[in-house]
Amino acid sequence: MAPLFAIRDMTISLTRAPADLDGLPAQPEERVVIEGASIAVDQGETVALVGESGSGKSLLAMASVDLLGPSARVVSGTTVFEGHVLQDLDDADWRSLVGMGIGVLLQDAIGSWDPLDFIGSQSGEALLEHTDLTQEEVQQRVLDALGEVGLSKRHYFTAFAHEVSRGQAQRGMLASALLSAPRMLIADEPLSGLDVTVGGAVLDLINDMRAKRGMGMLLVTHDMGVVAAVADRVAVVYAGSIVENGPVVDVYHTPLHPYTSGLLGSLPSLTGDRLRPIEGETPDLFEVEPGCRFADRCPYVIARCWSDKPAPRLLGSTLVACHRADELELKGVG
Ligand SMILES: Nc1ncnc2c1ncn2[C@@H]1O[C@H](COP(=O)(O)OP(=O)(O)OP(=O)(O)O)[C@@H](O)[C@H]1O
Ligand SMILES: [Mg+2]
Repeated sequence: MAPLFAIRDMTISLTRAPADLDGLPAQPEERVVIEGASIAVDQGETVALVGESGSGKSLLAMASVDLLGPSARVVSGTTVFEGHVLQDLDDADWRSLVGMGIGVLLQDAIGSWDPLDFIGSQSGEALLEHTDLTQEEVQQRVLDALGEVGLSKRHYFTAFAHEVSRGQAQRGMLASALLSAPRMLIADEPLSGLDVTVGGAVLDLINDMRAKRGMGMLLVTHDMGVVAAVADRVAVVYAGSIVENGPVVDVYHTPLHPYTSGLLGSLPSLTGDRLRPIEGETPDLFEVEPGCRFADRCPYVIARCWSDKPAPRLLGSTLVACHRADELELKGVG
């Protein structure tokens, strides 16, 4: 069966002025920063995109639904949703398919509201624009959705974005994303900035809504604990590459990529061990190097890693991009 939503072989570039080391004015340069990324989400399934800050998770998620700013571009590859190639759609079809079929929770919930308008009235704008529903019908849907996410109508129709808490803003975004009854949800760090209790409540809410509506979900997060709690499959991103992609159970118990094992080890609550931080720093996506991007932090590095970029290959049910994946026995959870 074809997946509900699939990113196929996507290559993305950024345009940026490189670091100016000679004091000369630097010309902006376009460089490929994500190459050949593929992710598939089935109906009712949650796939997590996990990795450190700056690894390109948001870039890939936003590129997949054509929500990039001017300095980023999809060079090649496609996104297929319910059998339609999104990149082939004209504006009107894109709005009705993506706008109504895919709900997007942006990473910065508060910043994505217009600060000068009540958040309740902003929530219904897309529905008014893309459907034949009347103002009253849209208002009723907004009220229903607010009720579903546990927000009060009075608060919401008379509050500006800066007047609600982060948790309320996240719930408000979720209500907006659900208004059009999407079949797919893209949630980019929906718990960022929330404390553990509120974050847990928001995560439960998102997961309940997803299950109730049978939606597929692409969940972007840096938190391996959240992944373990809600995801069926996980794609681990390192410096713009998906280094491991497989069922959560397999990836957590028998990680095949040293970076995945490192990420799991940096979460003592999962492993029951002492914290095992990954030494070294995350590379800047824009600084393209040959070979495996993880080589300079990898405890298992060999000469070949510096020159040949490992291609993803299937081992069991997991796709992994590491030259040594079949010979290493890496530490996982449990
Ligand atoms: N829309 C965009 N336009 C231009 N550059 C972008 C865009 N999105 C991301 N970038 C750049 O791509 C790189 C990766 O950023 P991205 O936001 O994808 O990281 P991330 O993995 O989501 O990190 P975090 O966990 O901090 O959210 C950064 O250098 C960022 O500046
Ligand atoms: Mg991000």
